[in-house]
Amino acid sequence: MKSQIAQYIEEIKAARIEDFKDRAAGVEQFRVRFLGRKGILADLFEQFKSLPNDQKKEMGVALNQLKTAAQAKIEEWKNFVEQSAELNDTHDLTMPADFSQRGSRHVLSVTMNEIAEIFARIGFTVEESVEIEDDWHLFSALNFPPDHPARDMQDTFFVQKEEGKTDIALRTHTSSVQVRVMETHKPPIRIIAPGRVFRNEAISARAHCIFHQVEALYVDKKVTFADLKQTLLYFAKEMFGEQTQIRLRPSYFPFTEPSAEMDISCNICGGKGCNICKGTGWLEILGCGMVDPNVLEACGIDSKEYSGFALGMGVERMAMLKYQIRDLRLYFENDLRFLHQFDNII
Ligand code: DAH
Repeated sequence: MKSQIAQYIEEIKAARIEDFKDRAAGVEQFRVRFLGRKGILADLFEQFKSLPNDQKKEMGVALNQLKTAAQAKIEEWKNFVEQSAELNDTHDLTMPADFSQRGSRHVLSVTMNEIAEIFARIGFTVEESVEIEDDWHLFSALNFPPDHPARDMQDTFFVQKEEGKTDIALRTHTSSVQVRVMETHKPPIRIIAPGRVFRNEAISARAHCIFHQVEALYVDKKVTFADLKQTLLYFAKEMFGEQTQIRLRPSYFPFTEPSAEMDISCNICGGKGCNICKGTGWLEILGCGMVDPNVLEACGIDSKEYSGFALGMGVERMAMLKYQIRDLRLYFENDLRFLHQFDNII
């Protein structure tokens, strides 16, 4: 009898509701077999009565174990059957799955990340900073004269502009991050600063009041214009392809001396001349130069010991040239027909 009880307990443990075709009926069948009036337990209790007294204690315990096991199993299965009935009532499990469109990165984020990766490969780290800036970091420390037009109300969104108080504005360029980094770090400094910038411009296919820039700054002993040029050539080739050529044109920025603008050979016509490069074969892509000694000194860096180069580029323009996007407004409208074209460029 003892081994038979053990066998039943094993059987109960191993039983799986999945093995019944009709689960509700299966549970009932199982219950009747073990706990029914003429079931296994009733039969065993009958046999128990006629056992010699010295075996009763041990057998009683075993029988109760069997009864508890059967009851627990039935309870568990009943709950399961009830829950699946509920699920079947409220959900149609035969419906096809809904494969919703997955989101993807915005083309501007992809472009910024790509620029950051290109610079990371030659040791530049990423610095981020505030979007609301004071006059010092935005203009004064960058050697802008007091009457420079960039400080004008027409260009700059001022947050605070009152007699006797510091001007506070939405940053008009990421060059302000150069100042923040040089004030807090000792050379060698090798950073890029990607981020949003704001200018008071009418929105058109070619201009927007919010756009993105990536700034790069390298300050160390004996940094020369040749270092700048080599970095620019490396960047242009990585970004636009090995065949890309660059040219530098003299320019002016208050914070660099000498200053230049860099063009790349038109990646659409290969330099022959087309309507994108307006027939010139060249596309203007960024501003750069050697950090003006006044800027180094304003940030507490000895300009006799250190020199540096800086450059700044517009991310919207980079993406426009790389992916032939004709209208700047497309970036900000979030039209899915536009966004989905870039699903696969990550
Ligand atoms: N800050 C300039 C702008 O917004 C871009 C720029 C030009 C950044 C020359 C630089 C630089 O670092 O050296 O137009």
